[in-house]
Amino acid sequence: MNIVILAAGQGKRMYSALPKVLHSIAGKPMLGHVLDTVQKIDSSVKPCIVLGHGQDAVKEYLNLHHSNFTIAIQAEQKGTGHAVMQALPYLNEDLSTLILYGDVPLIQASTLTDLLRLAQDETLVILTQELENPHGYGRIVRSLDGEVIGIVEEKDATVEIKQIREINTGMMACPTKELRQWLAQIQPNNVQGEHYLTDIVGLAAGQGVPIRTMMPQYGFEVEGVNSRVQLAALERAWQSHQALDLLQGGITLIDPNRIDIRGNFKCSNDVTIDIGCVFEGQVEIADGVHIGPYCVIKDSKIGANSQIKAFSHLEGAVVGESAVIGPYARLRPGTEIDEHAHIGNFVEVKNSRIGKGSKANHLSYIGDAQVGSRVNIGAGTITCNYDGVNKYQTIIEDDAFIGSDTQLVAPVTVGKGATIGAGTTLTKDAPTQQLTISRVKQFSLKWQRPPKKIQ
Ligand code: UD1
Ligand code: CA
Repeated sequence: MNIVILAAGQGKRMYSALPKVLHSIAGKPMLGHVLDTVQKIDSSVKPCIVLGHGQDAVKEYLNLHHSNFTIAIQAEQKGTGHAVMQALPYLNEDLSTLILYGDVPLIQASTLTDLLRLAQDETLVILTQELENPHGYGRIVRSLDGEVIGIVEEKDATVEIKQIREINTGMMACPTKELRQWLAQIQPNNVQGEHYLTDIVGLAAGQGVPIRTMMPQYGFEVEGVNSRVQLAALERAWQSHQALDLLQGGITLIDPNRIDIRGNFKCSNDVTIDIGCVFEGQVEIADGVHIGPYCVIKDSKIGANSQIKAFSHLEGAVVGESAVIGPYARLRPGTEIDEHAHIGNFVEVKNSRIGKGSKANHLSYIGDAQVGSRVNIGAGTITCNYDGVNKYQTIIEDDAFIGSDTQLVAPVTVGKGATIGAGTTLTKDAPTQQLTISRVKQFSLKWQRPPKKIQ
């Protein structure tokens, strides 16, 4: 099949320097959603995207994040029919053409697959929807025996036609040869002076081409975005849909209205997610994990039965089984936390591995470090991994004990079972099984505090 995605409109009502189709739903530009869905129905198809307003920005986005598309330019926006005409040179005459919209982002692959199935046998198929309030949409006009005979835009509609509640969602599929021939016939003789794509429906009916309609499973699939109010409403609709999916899949959400999923979220059974959490990118969560309130988790994997406590921030981290993270922990890219390890409050870990059963429970920075098993890292310990130019590794071997307020000046190694006394600034390797300490000797002087000045 051929796929045309219309995305030339300006989106005036967004009041934005950013082209409308680059505004995001669930962290991904609307056009990106449509392209990903197209890939799902057929990864070999090369959709033709019609661009106009803001085409430079859209092209830049497309070249960065997508491959497998062609671009047609509609220099002046003279209507949806005129937009499709610009794509005609890129279409294969022998296949059907499916028309989609860059600002109707949440159309689902299953709906499009059904639509394309109906579109075989030289049929025109229109995706329609019954609306309580159809104001503003093109109306599906049917004959007395129920056959579709045309689409009339709101602005061109009579009072009777405005009563019709079945609307044109804009998405349709038809044979490409006929599409070309119909588009050649449409005239801009309407209130808006535009070439309406919708006029092909009347032409098809006149030629006796079979016209079928179908409706999507969910209302949000056909909702378009013209303003930030609609963008926000669609975001909520999508988030509720994803939350419902999780509940039905065996995940406990303390409040399905207070979770945001922006990306691909894989979650096993018996996971509990408290309120206010945000999941971004590729996140995988194994059985029995408990996630406390207000956590942000991006591109990370969390092993079975681990706990992520309140207000933790994870990015690019892999957490093993039965680990405890937070509250207020920050795991940055390249962090690996092995099973049964604990990372406590105000501990930041970056590009480091923390071995099995090791603990850093309070106020630490661990960067570019390899920490063995059963290590205890005392409060306030810091790896000094950066000299202002280069980064260096800290190695802490199994069963070491790092006293509170230690600075580990990398590159440095703490041997197996070594103990580092509190307040140490470690600049040389600490030998295995010994106590290493660097500290100014404690002394006391006779001392009288000066009296307070009386004013
Ligand atoms: C269109 C349909 C209407 C339908 C509604 C659904 C027509 C004539 N009308 O109306 O029946 O109910 O969508 O939302 O098709 N675009 C271009 N180039 C243009 C004009 C539009 O690329 O010259 C793109 C826009 O960027 C947008 C889409 O086509 O993605 C729809 O255009 P819009 O002006 O919003 O159409 P509506 O008037 O809402
Ligand atoms: Ca319009």
